[in-house]
Amino acid sequence: EKGGYKHFMAKEIAEQPVVLADALRHYVPGERLNLPETLDFSSLDRLTLVACGTAFYACQIAKYWFETLAALPCEVDIASEFRYREPPLPQRSFAIFVSQSGETADTLAALRYCRGRVARVISVVNVETSTMARESDLALPIMAGPEVGVASTKAFTCQLAVLFLMALKAGLDRGTIDQDRLRQLLDSLNRLPGLMNQAIGSESEIARIAESVAEAQDVLFLGRGAMFPLAMEGALKLKEISYIHAEGYASGELKHGPIALIDKTVPVIVLAPRDRLFDKTVSNMQEVMARHGKVVLITDREGENAAADGTWRSLVMPEVAPELAPILYAVPAQLLAYHAAVAKGTDVDQPRNLAKSVTVE
Ligand code: F6R
Repeated sequence: EKGGYKHFMAKEIAEQPVVLADALRHYVPGERLNLPETLDFSSLDRLTLVACGTAFYACQIAKYWFETLAALPCEVDIASEFRYREPPLPQRSFAIFVSQSGETADTLAALRYCRGRVARVISVVNVETSTMARESDLALPIMAGPEVGVASTKAFTCQLAVLFLMALKAGLDRGTIDQDRLRQLLDSLNRLPGLMNQAIGSESEIARIAESVAEAQDVLFLGRGAMFPLAMEGALKLKEISYIHAEGYASGELKHGPIALIDKTVPVIVLAPRDRLFDKTVSNMQEVMARHGKVVLITDREGENAAADGTWRSLVMPEVAPELAPILYAVPAQLLAYHAAVAKGTDVDQPRNLAKSVTVE
């Protein structure tokens, strides 16, 4: 059932181009966005996104999309905080709950709290028969197929794809995206499965980097913009399966504290697609190198030519539309964690102390 792979996680990482393409065939038949007309974002004051763990990081990435593509203010929170904070919610808002299982206790409680308080309760789930799907006004399936490995991989990238499509719909509804821009972004999205395949093609190179990273006690991940939540997701993946302490930071926060941790023993993974913040990320990276941090730069070919001098390692990703970089760069982050765990000999699919579905709080 692992289809020749050593672990479910390896299989599920490798499946991503295929399941993403399936989801796109469903949601983008031809050039059209296939989302329910009732999902109308036009008169909303706000969006609230709630989830746990990896699904929470997907929400944080989506915030950048909803805000930049649809000019829609977004609040994002972890479910265990949201549910007890009992926040006031504008009636003219949607609440979106993102969950692979659709059964996570805190996310479900947050969903129940929002019923009757917002215009619409929407879930983005992998399991269509789940409690969250049943209890929402609208459930959008991410179509990732069964995810067995405890560490979420293909569900994360499919969650991102569905959230991105929702942001496109929001942009159309709110008049911030025209048909040309839509076509351009859908083109980029349709190319993404192929780019993911190329990223997976760098697996042996990533495995070599991971073997060196596996010797570290602490690892930092850095990114700006939507790559900041991806940095936190990369760190979560690494800590949960390899048990190496890791943190994700916004590159610009480095000098407000965490740079004190940097010395020659600390690998720093820099997620730097060539977007409008590339130069700023690179200058933060150089501050790390000046303190002898071991920088692993992940960027595209031109980014490598411009900035790889003096780094410890660099890894080249295919060029991608900046909006979609968080989905593509999830692949090397996942593979890095996977191969670090394999190098350490941990139980990749069943990491200690963790359960696939957290149905108690
Ligand atoms: C991390 C991971 C967890 C889940 C979290 C939410 O790899 O898998 O952080 O993302 O427990 O689970 P769901 O998505 O089922 O609500």
